[in-house]
Amino acid sequence: MAGIKVTGWGIAVPEKVVTNDDLTATLDTNDAWIVERTGIRERRVGGTTSGLAIEAGQKALDKAGLTPADIDMVVLATTTPDAMVPGTATTVQNALGINGGAFDVNAACSGFVYGLVTAAGLAAVGARRILLIGSDTLTRITDWDDRSIAVLVGDGAGAAVIETVEGESDLLSWNLNADGSLKHLLYCEHGGFLVMDGKEIFRKAVRVVVESAEKAMADAGLGVDDISLFVPHQANLRIIQAACQRLGISEEKSAIVIDRYGNTSSASIPLALVDAIDNGRVKPGDTLLLSGFGGGMTWASAVLRWGG
Ligand code: ACO
Repeated sequence: MAGIKVTGWGIAVPEKVVTNDDLTATLDTNDAWIVERTGIRERRVGGTTSGLAIEAGQKALDKAGLTPADIDMVVLATTTPDAMVPGTATTVQNALGINGGAFDVNAACSGFVYGLVTAAGLAAVGARRILLIGSDTLTRITDWDDRSIAVLVGDGAGAAVIETVEGESDLLSWNLNADGSLKHLLYCEHGGFLVMDGKEIFRKAVRVVVESAEKAMADAGLGVDDISLFVPHQANLRIIQAACQRLGISEEKSAIVIDRYGNTSSASIPLALVDAIDNGRVKPGDTLLLSGFGGGMTWASAVLRWGG
């Protein structure tokens, strides 16, 4: 069965920076509270889900040294599609000039890891090169008068080119989960705004991230000391710290960008991963642990060997 490797990557974020101090102009909040409770200092705001995805996707193609004609599938993880119909992946496919299939995956903030496993499945049944993108514009479904959510969210996209390889896959293991009985913890009705039970999500997130990360490591036959870099979903620095502590992973071994981008949902794991790559923190042969959680609830982990 064909395996996969990641051969290209890229990100896109809107130019507009909104700092915590900027938010205090309209919200009863302050920089000290936001930094202490979430680790967020600023976020990027603007653009569309397709626009950011197209920019990140093009960068990933360039990095892989491929043209659109080389790609046979676009998988777009998003929870904020441009429209209900059509799927945003088709807009991205058309703009990039790709021929082949295109569809959205909605697993909220776990979307990128769900998309990665989906891409590996497509590779196993014959797809040769897949453009995987996580893109979200949570600020479009946020009530800017609701301080419990408005301080948390940001917009962005991250993309990866996934190529088929014969022999051993760089995806060493995966673990996908969902519990629909928890949908009341985080949801957005048609035309509405995000509603969240932050405290309960916090509690559940730490538990499920640790559980699924441990399962993924066990399935890969690896222990925590074998992990070179932990790339968690960026929802709250305190969730990342609590998960690190319970997993026995030092914070220095974690990719953290929440201070600059806030919670960007499906984009947060690739934004953190590409930041680590750009800063020379990922070397060929490294073993990465990706873990996300989000609305649904969904949660997902994957262990990826970095081919580079
Ligand atoms: N600024 C200032 N004060 C605030 C703010 C704010 N933005 N928000 C709440 N407060 C106040 C509350 O009113 C409360 O005041 P009180 O003590 O007088 O009642 C106090 O601060 C403490 O509020 P808590 O809700 O208890 O704060 P907590 O430490 O739980 O932090 C937070 C809240 C940051 C939301 C946290 O619970 C969290 O991060 N949860 C997880 C969120 C998450 O991971 N969501 C998943 C994805 S989110 C998404 O996709 C949009």
